[in-house]
Amino acid sequence: QARKLFDYNIILIGFMGAGKTTVSDYLSTMFAMNIVEMDQVISEREEMSIPDIFATYGEEYFRELETDLLVEMQSRKNTVVSCGGGAALRERNVKEMKKNGRVVLLTASPETIYERVKDSNDRPVLNGRKNVAGISELMEQRREKYEAAADIVVNTDGKSVLQVCEEMIQKL
Ligand code: S3P
Repeated sequence: QARKLFDYNIILIGFMGAGKTTVSDYLSTMFAMNIVEMDQVISEREEMSIPDIFATYGEEYFRELETDLLVEMQSRKNTVVSCGGGAALRERNVKEMKKNGRVVLLTASPETIYERVKDSNDRPVLNGRKNVAGISELMEQRREKYEAAADIVVNTDGKSVLQVCEEMIQKL
């Protein structure tokens, strides 16, 4: 694939375990895009893990940091922004994303998500619901907002990261 420069950012949204981090790594390599992993940047700036930020300051504080970071992203281009799973749930955030980005929703079935997140301990939102039923319920609660935010949707079930990226580029 020839190198190409995007004059906008690609903003990846979707549920935990939908593949945002994996796809952003791959896209940045494939197209020499800059990459911003929002959770990682926030965690580095606060010098705390995401669970510690939630436990110490609360979810609302974390959500404010997400909004600030999305606003910062508007002065960049050719950047793939991998959002935390909750970032697209606020209308304000979606507005900020769209100012300079195409919003790509990655989806997967609750079963797939469960397989991908079952061994991770850094997702406080999944505490007490790390099973297919719990994931499915939270996903249903979020579905409408995710879909409303998305410019394009790519399902990742059973697909390689290469397949997902190709499908995405075609749709963009
Ligand atoms: C969250 C998802 C996490 C992280 C935080 C909250 C959510 O990101 O931002 O734990 O509310 O869905 P990942 O989607 O990268 O796991």
